[in-house]
Amino acid sequence: MAQDPTSGAFTGLKSPEPSLPASWYFDEAQYQQELNAIWYRNWVYLGRASSWPDNGSFRTYTLGTQPILVVRDSHGALRAYYNTCRHRGALLCSEPSGTFANKSITCPYHAWSYRLSGELARIPSSGREHYIDMEHTALYPIALTEWRGFVYANLSHVKGAVANHFNGNAQTLQHWPLEDLIVGHRTKKILRCNWKIFWENYNECLHCPSVHPALSQLVPIYKRGIMEERDDPNWATHTATTEPLYKGGLRAGAATWSVDGQSLGHEFAELTSEERRIGYHYMTSLPSHYLVAHVDHVRSTRLLPLGPETTELEIEWLFPRATLADPAVDIANVWAFSEQVMTEDAAVCELNQAGLHARVHHAGMLMPEEYDVFRLHAWLKAELSRP
Ligand code: FES
Ligand SMILES: [Fe+2]
Repeated sequence: MAQDPTSGAFTGLKSPEPSLPASWYFDEAQYQQELNAIWYRNWVYLGRASSWPDNGSFRTYTLGTQPILVVRDSHGALRAYYNTCRHRGALLCSEPSGTFANKSITCPYHAWSYRLSGELARIPSSGREHYIDMEHTALYPIALTEWRGFVYANLSHVKGAVANHFNGNAQTLQHWPLEDLIVGHRTKKILRCNWKIFWENYNECLHCPSVHPALSQLVPIYKRGIMEERDDPNWATHTATTEPLYKGGLRAGAATWSVDGQSLGHEFAELTSEERRIGYHYMTSLPSHYLVAHVDHVRSTRLLPLGPETTELEIEWLFPRATLADPAVDIANVWAFSEQVMTEDAAVCELNQAGLHARVHHAGMLMPEEYDVFRLHAWLKAELSRP
């Protein structure tokens, strides 16, 4: 059996590996295959449960080619449906968010109306009801689950704990009170790149020294183009030092990811000293979501593919209630920093996408530091071959 190129104490790749075929980033058929095999079979993050504050609150989404409607029903339960009418398939709701009046969802085309719980309630063409089995004509349901305040949908109707989809690291953030946090700031961006480009960039820091100067000051090991101590083949020669440049973690004197490195205060009380020292903790749920947790806030990033070369990004900055209520706190210190990092990442993702169209470029190659990109590709191939 070939040696696993990610094995051993040195984390980097031990052998040259090709990147994915260039056409996988823009080919329409490949995109459709990935939608079917990955996006329509895994749990996909939509939003915080608090984004549906009242009974009747709704939000709509587009996942690939699929229109989704999520509503809080009359009993306070969240429900997801395909955003399509059972009559002749019109889009039921075109607004991104809002509240349904009168506890009903009415199609704007011929006014069929549905209860928030999905049942068909009324057909205006009188006397026609006997043509239709009203009882069994409901909105098409989509599986929904909530994990610590985060709401996920699954178009495959596979039931199961969403925690299983955090790559086994759902416990990583057990000391953060995720369910109690409030969205204090939100940004949406449309990226002109394939969704995999975003994840590849997320999975390596080779670009950090040139693309993220401020972040590389804050997290000194990023200056070296690596993420962890053992990403350096000579890591064993630095075992005596505790320097963040070699060990990872924030620069001396910094407490969080913010413009000045200072914490907003109201820090999470249950964190261990090690969690505080490191200062940033990632949790990834492919294909749609990752969290980064700091001592004073948590950042949530969601991806939704909109086309082979178009990806929607939504970032939410989550804070304790006390932080948002404190007039002395300026949360922009936190969000402006990571928004800048995200803007830098978005620019290189789009550059990457644009260059992939060169007719002579069939596939690239991975450097040793890109071991997590290799793992991402392995995950992708396994998903594509899943029966
Ligand atoms: S398509 Fe909705 S009522 Fe006709
Ligand atoms: Fe980056």
